[in-house]
Amino acid sequence: MQVFVDSADQKQIAQWLEQGVVDGVTTNPSIMFKDGVAEIEEGARRLAAMLGDLPLSVEVTTNDRVAMLEEARQFASWARNIVVKIPIINEYGESCLGVIHRLSQEGIAINSTAILSFNQAILAAKAGATYVSIFAGRVADEGNDPAVVIHNVRRWLDDWEFSTRIIVGSIRTVMDIQNAALAGAHIITIPPQFLPKMVDHRYTRETVRQFVQDAQKTLAEMKQTKVSAAAASAQQ
Ligand code: E4P
Repeated sequence: MQVFVDSADQKQIAQWLEQGVVDGVTTNPSIMFKDGVAEIEEGARRLAAMLGDLPLSVEVTTNDRVAMLEEARQFASWARNIVVKIPIINEYGESCLGVIHRLSQEGIAINSTAILSFNQAILAAKAGATYVSIFAGRVADEGNDPAVVIHNVRRWLDDWEFSTRIIVGSIRTVMDIQNAALAGAHIITIPPQFLPKMVDHRYTRETVRQFVQDAQKTLAEMKQTKVSAAAASAQQ
């Protein structure tokens, strides 16, 4: 399973990148806004460069499907590792599958986003999406179990041998991460504030404290034994 960071915050991304746990980054216009990226092109180019070959998802900013095509081609020209996020439908409920299909055929990697149902994931994969982003928190907002959706999509992709990968996003708690991992997510995109919570544990700290204290005691005793032995041999 891969871990992406759901953020446009360079410092946060760099911090987890150097610890070897980041396989990619996802953003959306709300994340860019929250993380202070005023200019998409400049922000996306900067993030793409720091990621090297790892994928960076950047989302289109329009409801117009012709404009989506143009924006996506532009985004993809900025860096080789840019994946373009296209919503499965626009805000008027118009299908964006044609956009996903056309761009995929042009060789542009597409992350079909805002997926809330098994049916939407089936169609996005059929249209050629490289990734389908299932929004776990928002699935749960609607009273549905994200684990069931993730599990069904994964089973279907495997049964029919699709190469489309599931990204689980809209993570609201650390428990969502464990549930998504067990339900079959290929990738979970994690907001950076949850990563310290994943790595930390109160009892691990206590355990390490005990080992460090014992190591220090042992070293002090060994030192004392050496000093006493040296003093004894000096008296002989
Ligand atoms: C994933 O790619 C999205 O950026 C993100 O997880 C959306 O989730 P939210 O808007 O429900 O927080």
